[in-house]
Amino acid sequence: MFDALSSVPWTWLAIRATGITAWGLLTAVVIWGILLKTRLLGKLATPQGLLVMHRWLSALALGFLALHMGLLMIDPVVRFSPTQILIPFTAPWQPLAVGLGALAFWMLIPVSVVGRLRTRLGKAGNTWFRRTHLIAYAAWPVATAHYVLAGTDALAAWSIALLIAATSLIVFALLARGFVPPPSRRATAPVRSAVPQPPALVEAGNSAH
Ligand code: HEM
Repeated sequence: MFDALSSVPWTWLAIRATGITAWGLLTAVVIWGILLKTRLLGKLATPQGLLVMHRWLSALALGFLALHMGLLMIDPVVRFSPTQILIPFTAPWQPLAVGLGALAFWMLIPVSVVGRLRTRLGKAGNTWFRRTHLIAYAAWPVATAHYVLAGTDALAAWSIALLIAATSLIVFALLARGFVPPPSRRATAPVRSAVPQPPALVEAGNSAH
């Protein structure tokens, strides 16, 4: 087995490892975002804690994604040019499957840009932040389709188990988001809103999508 592995370029193994890691982190980002919005965990997690985790996971996901894309450019087997990496559906290998990955990447960019400009954009900043969050969340099924179609191991038993577990968690979280109103709309809201909140808490509440 080790002989077989030693004949595989390290870049290819690293592309797959960074791809799986980026996808796992993206899954966690979506789940943390929904936990922040719904406060499903109640007193088990503070909004600030959830927000910090949501931001860290997003930054890590983008970091691993950058590695995933960078490694594709130095892989000796199929060499991708920067334009083939960045322009969806132009890849020299499996253009549809790879293109879905590029599309998912672009769907994650607006939320990062708007997130940085948000305070400078005033009221419009909040509207754009919400809209770009929806696009970022929609990147998850696109990235998952990319994983299933492009991944060498996508149909291995462990990978199918991972896909089922992640999809179940996301579906559960989405159902909770639909059925569990955010704290501001729950019956206890008037009581809570009577207590002045520290600015960090207000910020965490506003960022919850
Ligand atoms: C949110 C964005 C992305 C995520 C979450 C992601 C995730 C993944 C995952 C999980 C795999 C399967 C690894 C395996 O088991 O083999 C994979 C494979 C692959 N990805 Fe991505 N990817 C993303 C973006 C991209 C982009 C932008 C490109 C290039 C344009 C790309 C190109 C590839 C290629 C060529 C493979 C096949 C590697 C192999 O030979 O197995 N991905 N990706």
